Amino acid sequence: MRTMQAVRLHDDGLRIEQIPAPSPAAAEALVRVHAAAITRGELTWPVDRLPAIPSYELSGVVVEVGPDVGDVSAGDEVFALTPFDRDGVAAEYAVVPAAVLAPRPRSLMHVESAALPLAGLSAWQGLFDHGALREGERVRVLGASGGVGHLAAQLARGQLAAADQPCEVVFDTVGGDALVHAVRSVPRVVSVAEEADGATYFVVRPSREQLVELARLADAGELRPAIDSVFPLEEAGAAFARVAERGKRGKVVLSVTDN
Ligand SMILES: NC(=O)c1ccc[n+]([C@@H]2O[C@H](COP(=O)([O-])OP(=O)(O)OC[C@H]3O[C@@H](n4cnc5c(N)ncnc54)[C@H](OP(=O)(O)O)[C@@H]3O)[C@@H](O)[C@H]2O)c1
Repeated sequence: MRTMQAVRLHDDGLRIEQIPAPSPAAAEALVRVHAAAITRGELTWPVDRLPAIPSYELSGVVVEVGPDVGDVSAGDEVFALTPFDRDGVAAEYAVVPAAVLAPRPRSLMHVESAALPLAGLSAWQGLFDHGALREGERVRVLGASGGVGHLAAQLARGQLAAADQPCEVVFDTVGGDALVHAVRSVPRVVSVAEEADGATYFVVRPSREQLVELARLADAGELRPAIDSVFPLEEAGAAFARVAERGKRGKVVLSVTDN
């Protein structure tokens, strides 16, 4: 049986373990993970299914596909946001629904393409699906140096409101007082950070179609994920300590194999 190194969250914290590698079932693909990015707060999400592998965004190469998979094959270089209700991807291999995989941006390293899916889709969906941002409208991004915020600022580049300008939409990635203040002063407020009266809160969803568009923008030089720091898989504890800190610039990424 093939085994793999994986990070798993237990009752008493994170452990680096050698566990059986998973096999793809119908409509699934087995991916060799090259890089996996992490998000502030994510270790509080899977507490009802421990032990759980964290990290829900990867860049890697398809190794094997299960039955009923038509549009990805072994050898494809892919990136993805993976579902939150099953094991994540902080491991040497991950089984993911084939439908969430998209061709990764060719111009980026694995570490960079792993940094795009969760934050890029959160930014896209916050601005355009939930914020309904239209041409000619201005938007303010709260937390524009963070993982989600820096990509939102790039996606909304031509529509960003200066500090002293009014805006039609606020996209919040911070929560707390900043969010409460925004709700009082701006008609459309969308938050990915927390729920608040008067704001639209949403949970990001996987979308191959939107990832294809993000990859196109990255390859066109119009979208560039910032990498705050990179840690080897064995140092996942230090990576999660870093992602919880203030003052980051972009995403924290686990490097799983050479990139
Ligand atoms: N609902 C969803 O589907 C979803 C999806 C993605 C992310 N999230 C959540 O959205 C939030 C933002 O994610 P992210 O990856 O962009 O986080 P991040 O990389 O940590 O960025 C947070 C941003 O908020 C700023 N900030 C201001 N006050 C803060 C405070 N008290 N604590 C922490 N940061 C503060 C940070 O700036 P300074 O550090 O310079 O102050 C930074 O610009 C997180 O809570 C994350 O769990 C939710």
